[in-house]
This record gives sequence, C-alpha cells and structure tokens, in this order.
Amino acid sequence: MAREARKSTSESVALDQVQQDLLLMLKQTESYLSGEQLGVRLSLSRTAVWKRIQRLRGWGYQVEGSSRRGYRLHPGQDLLLPAEISRDLIALRLRGPVRHFVTVPSTNDAAKDWARQGCPEGAVLVAETQSAGRGRLGRVWESPPGTGIYLSIVLRPPLPPLELPKLTLTAAVAVAAAIKGATGIRVGIKWPNDLIFGGKKMGGILTEMETESDRMSHVILGVGLNINTSTFPEHLATTATSLAGPGQSYSRLAIFRAFLKEMDVFYDRFLRQEFPAILDLWRQAAVTLGRPVRVERGDLVITGLAVDVAPDGALLVEKPGGEIEKILSGEIHEAS
Ligand code: BTN
Repeated sequence: MAREARKSTSESVALDQVQQDLLLMLKQTESYLSGEQLGVRLSLSRTAVWKRIQRLRGWGYQVEGSSRRGYRLHPGQDLLLPAEISRDLIALRLRGPVRHFVTVPSTNDAAKDWARQGCPEGAVLVAETQSAGRGRLGRVWESPPGTGIYLSIVLRPPLPPLELPKLTLTAAVAVAAAIKGATGIRVGIKWPNDLIFGGKKMGGILTEMETESDRMSHVILGVGLNINTSTFPEHLATTATSLAGPGQSYSRLAIFRAFLKEMDVFYDRFLRQEFPAILDLWRQAAVTLGRPVRVERGDLVITGLAVDVAPDGALLVEKPGGEIEKILSGEIHEAS
C-alpha cells in the first residue's frame, strides 16, 4: 500500500476442472480418500491422481498422504473453490461465472481482459494470491496466499462515468454488510472506500472503468480484504490489519459468499436509483465524518473538518475559514 505497484512478474496459474473436483472431493469428505477411490470418481489412474496431487502440493495446497489410507486435506484449510463460491447463490444481477486462480498478477487486470473479450456482467475472478496486486493511487496491494480475499467483479452499468464514485461507495457498504453478516464484526468505512477495523485498514476497493462514448462500457470492481493475515510487511505494520486477531480465523468462503449476495442486492438498488438510501448506510459506517482531516492530492494539502458526503459521493471538508471544499479524490489522513 505504501510502495509503488510492481510490474507483473509472474504468470497466472489456474486450477483445471479435475484439480477443482479433486480438491472439492477431499474437502467434502474431510477424511481420507484412497488414490483408487479418487481415480474412479475422476476417471483417472492412481498414478494420474498422484501426479495431480503433487502438482497441487507444489502450489501450496496441503494434501496429506498415507500409503495405507490415501489422501486428505490438511484440516483447517480455508479454500476458495468456484463450485463452493457459487453454490445455490440466488442473484438478481450478478450470477458469475467464477474464474479461480491459484496465482495471477492482478485479478483487476485479468478481469479487464475478460471484460474486453465480452464476459457477462457479474463475472467474478478470485485468486489465492496476486503477484502484482494493485491498490488505489498506484500502490501495491499485498496479497499473501490463502489468508485474504482478492476478487474482481465485472459490472456493466448503463450509466455515465460520473456515477462511478457512487458505485464505489455502494461497494464499500456491501463489503461492510457482508462482514457484519458473516462474522458479526462491524467494520468502519474511511472515505472513499477503505475498510477499517480497530483503527487500521483491513480492506480496500479499487474500481476501474472503460468508457464508450458517454457510458461506462465496463467497471472492474476489485476488492481486497485481509481476513486471516497474521503478518504484514514492516512498512504496513502500523496502518494495516486483518479481521482475525491472533489465534482467530474466519471463513473466507463465508465472507466471500456474503459479499456476492450483498453486492448483488446493493448493485440492484443502485441501478434502481436508490443511492441516497445507500449513502445513509455509508454515513452510518463512516469513520471519517465529524473528524479533523488532512487531504493530500498531489502537491495539494487541505486541512479541515470532514462534515459530510455530497449526493454524488464527494467528501465535504469545512476549512478553518468556514469554506466548504468538495473533495473528489485524494488520500485522507486524520489530523489533530
Ligand atoms: C486500495 O488501495 O484500498 C484498494 C485495494 C484493492 C485491492 C484489490 S485485491 C483484488 C483486486 N486486484 C487488484 O490488483 N486490486 C484489487
């Protein structure tokens, strides 16, 4: 988050259908399955099963093997598998499909490619880790494997680009609602869309769009959440946090599914012109309002009191002389 975004240095790795099925079988069994049992179910020889498992292990999946009993997943692994993410999800607008990566440079970049190729609205990309995850203002988004949620959704709102900030605020409300629903924890929102827990940042949203004449042709809604991340690089130690504290863990799958559900509902409301009501929910979760702030935008620094958000999603800062400054972008810091 405080360093400049890295260039894409590594390739994408995606699980094929057999690898996904294999992991799903092991996960659902919660016990050992022999190479023969797996082979029969997957129409593979025992050697082919073994080879696939070796490959999964190479990517960090912890599959235990015993010559007598077969294979099982190391207990407590919180996998994000497409079949489980999308199982029985009833959606108004966002219905997948879900693409899963073991690793990808950035789900937002992969989503952009997919959107340009014509994927449907509601297509979801998820990665266990990103090698070049990006945050706002050109920063790096640290994406350690298996502990966070790194996802992008392709949206195609039939609206002008000026509506994008409202959509970003809407997504922050959906994330907060999902976390509350799945874990009971109330996270705060720092303008425009940082998710705050215990005074530190536990998540963020990066929306990127492409336009066609005066309309958004697609929006990539990227969400990064630190769920069970226990260590952060030194430069983030005082500013970043994770939802789970020491000795705790939350189900990434439950939070992911809750987010897809909430985002679907809030996106539908957004398209039905209900942003004023969504903005009220944003205000209720806001940690920025009523506080003295310092806004940095390039070389420009503005200090004052964050008094409200405007109907278009801009932050309203009252300067010492009483003048109200409308902030459309920038980095907000608490001022004393
Ligand atoms: C922020 O700076 O607060 C926004 C962080 C957004 C990170 C997410 S992780 C999934 C998606 N892919 C990216 O490269 N970035 C977003």
